[in-house]
Amino acid sequence: MKILVTGGAGFIGSHTVVELVLEGHEPTVFDSFVNAKPSVIDRVETITGYRVPLVRGDVRDSDALEAAFRHGDFEGVIHFAGLKAVGESVAHPLDYFDSNVAGSVTLLEAMGRHGVDTFVFSSSATVYGEPTVLPTPEEAALQPPTNPYGRSKLMVEEILRDVSTATPAMRIGILRYFNPVGAHESGLIGEDPADVPNNLMPYIAQVATERLPRLAVFGGNYDTPDGSGVRDYIHVVDLARGHIAAMRHLVDHPGLHVWNLGTGQGTSVLDMVEAFERASGVTIPYEVTARRPGDVAATYADPSRAHRELGWKAEFGIDRMCEDAWRWQQYADTLED
Ligand code: UFG
Repeated sequence: MKILVTGGAGFIGSHTVVELVLEGHEPTVFDSFVNAKPSVIDRVETITGYRVPLVRGDVRDSDALEAAFRHGDFEGVIHFAGLKAVGESVAHPLDYFDSNVAGSVTLLEAMGRHGVDTFVFSSSATVYGEPTVLPTPEEAALQPPTNPYGRSKLMVEEILRDVSTATPAMRIGILRYFNPVGAHESGLIGEDPADVPNNLMPYIAQVATERLPRLAVFGGNYDTPDGSGVRDYIHVVDLARGHIAAMRHLVDHPGLHVWNLGTGQGTSVLDMVEAFERASGVTIPYEVTARRPGDVAATYADPSRAHRELGWKAEFGIDRMCEDAWRWQQYADTLED
């Protein structure tokens, strides 16, 4: 399939582009490079042997989208472009609603003008808030988000429900990601935060290469087996493959669908530290500090719907996630020097 991938140079986007090429699809990347490096396109070419077409632009810019759709003849869109830092969203809410909500609306309008009816959206387990059920299935109650980032994801989900009601022939897949980590096994692409990382895995990886002195474990007295927060970490390559499975399913299934993409396994912060130490052979200095405001104690997916309907399930475990993240971090440090 010919697919437009917005945010295709970003962390999850670039891994999805690689998997699309390997599966024989023809992705085109649409990216503004506000949070990605143009050299990602070269590195994707090194991995796949294929030069992915690139349109540089912002999803809020309908002229840029017009240029992409005029030349593309796309059968579907996978929409990753957007802002994703929870703390920053509290400080700059309008940026989040503009990029994530207005950007999605502008993109859907462009698709409508060009008769493209298949849309896969990056949502987040954040829409479950403090989950009422663990593991959490898609039909669990959604909770009011605790920050503008989460609200922007929930708002786009609601917009998509209205779009689907108005246009039932559209094929819409909402993917609720749990915690994407790891990197491509080549070590050539991975998560590349411009600033000090907010998320656990890139933070640990930068402590391991001594870019950062020590990890703060946010909270040691949660009601979890070791007191630290529990999450469902999913290897980014598994996640990428989930998008392809969703695209394939949508071909024969118009309407709106929601799928959790997670492993179903909960891992604590301290488990993750140990796994990273095993993978890297480096001791990770850490201290247990206060809880981070807005964090929940535990969240992990019931991924059985994606398995049943898409034939997809996560293959990689926590050790592999750490090995790949470690390989990538060592390369990323050389890139920035
Ligand atoms: N953590 C630390 N120290 C750190 C960073 C994180 O102890 O320096 C802990 C957190 O407290 C949490 C766990 O590691 O227990 C995972 O934290 P992340 O920041 O990696 O991930 P979150 O679960 O907070 O965030 C993820 C996504 C967001 C999404 C959010 C809510 O990254 O996009 O889930 O579902 F909004």
